[in-house]
Amino acid sequence: MMSILDDDLTGTTTFNPVLVVGAGKMAGAILSAWLEPKDGREGLDPETLFVEDPGSPEDVLDLLGKYDVVPQARQELPAAPQLVMVGVKPQVMDGVLKDLASRISPETLVYSIAAGRTISDISKHLPEGTAIVRAMPNTPVMVQSGMTALIANEFVSTEQRSQINDLVSSTGTVAWLDNESQMDAVTAVSGSGPAYIFWLAECLAKAGERQGLSPELAMTLSKATIDGAGSMMGLFDTPPSQLRENVTSKGGTTAAALDVLMNDEGLAPLIDAAIEAAAKRSKELSG
Ligand SMILES: NC(=O)c1ccc[n+]([C@@H]2O[C@H](COP(=O)([O-])OP(=O)(O)OC[C@H]3O[C@@H](n4cnc5c(N)ncnc54)[C@H](OP(=O)(O)O)[C@@H]3O)[C@@H](O)[C@H]2O)c1
Repeated sequence: MMSILDDDLTGTTTFNPVLVVGAGKMAGAILSAWLEPKDGREGLDPETLFVEDPGSPEDVLDLLGKYDVVPQARQELPAAPQLVMVGVKPQVMDGVLKDLASRISPETLVYSIAAGRTISDISKHLPEGTAIVRAMPNTPVMVQSGMTALIANEFVSTEQRSQINDLVSSTGTVAWLDNESQMDAVTAVSGSGPAYIFWLAECLAKAGERQGLSPELAMTLSKATIDGAGSMMGLFDTPPSQLRENVTSKGGTTAAALDVLMNDEGLAPLIDAAIEAAAKRSKELSG
């Protein structure tokens, strides 16, 4: 089973230097959490950060510019990187990893966020014994409310595990997997999950329109409702089933809707089929 963040995995030091290869949408969002101090947490020292990307998007360039970090094609680092985040698309990974191999030292941790690229795929291109952590983040890392599942190979030390846990925690919730085969289900639930919630918001708004609301008002109600319900689940320990029961009076309006959503042909079998399709596709993509 998956072990959610252990308290004793709280690092005191961090990686130095850090190399990021490919700072696009996802790695850029992660970097914004790593660089920006929040809730008493110190950000990563920008002087220890080196970024290589030929085409970072404008907002990532703005973020890096704020910290005087200039992306370059291939940089001289003061020492071998202690952490390399590989943030390129899966289809260019092989070439990028081959170029990286000569820069990896026994102290380097390679952190990959590429969907569908297994630890075994990644390690093929790197020196024998390279420490690798494979991650599946989701897009809410952009607002530091992400969900990131991690799996490490046997060469990752306890200290590296603690340090990466600390860094990734700055982007939201972290869960360590103990088996890489869980990655397909994780991808289906949390990796792709934000899109399902956005679709739910669209459906809820459309249904409001059919009840006579204007599109603008219906979308405002829908977004605020999902945002508020999400915040309640984040803030309270109360399980979602209890939160649902708390707002459902017998014979009331919520109960009338839930009778439809929770019947045998309601939402549960649809979600089940959707997650099964996504997990199957994830398996196919990882070969
Ligand atoms: N987006 C998501 O929801 C999500 C979720 C989980 C995991 N991921 C993973 O995150 C990774 C990045 O996805 P993304 O959406 O952030 O893609 P992206 O915005 O295209 O970012 C990739 C960046 O890498 C750059 N790049 C390409 N070749 C490079 C090279 N040889 N050296 C250095 N940089 C290079 C690209 O520049 P150019 O644009 O000039 O090519 C681009 O700026 C993928 O592996 C994806 O599977 C994404």
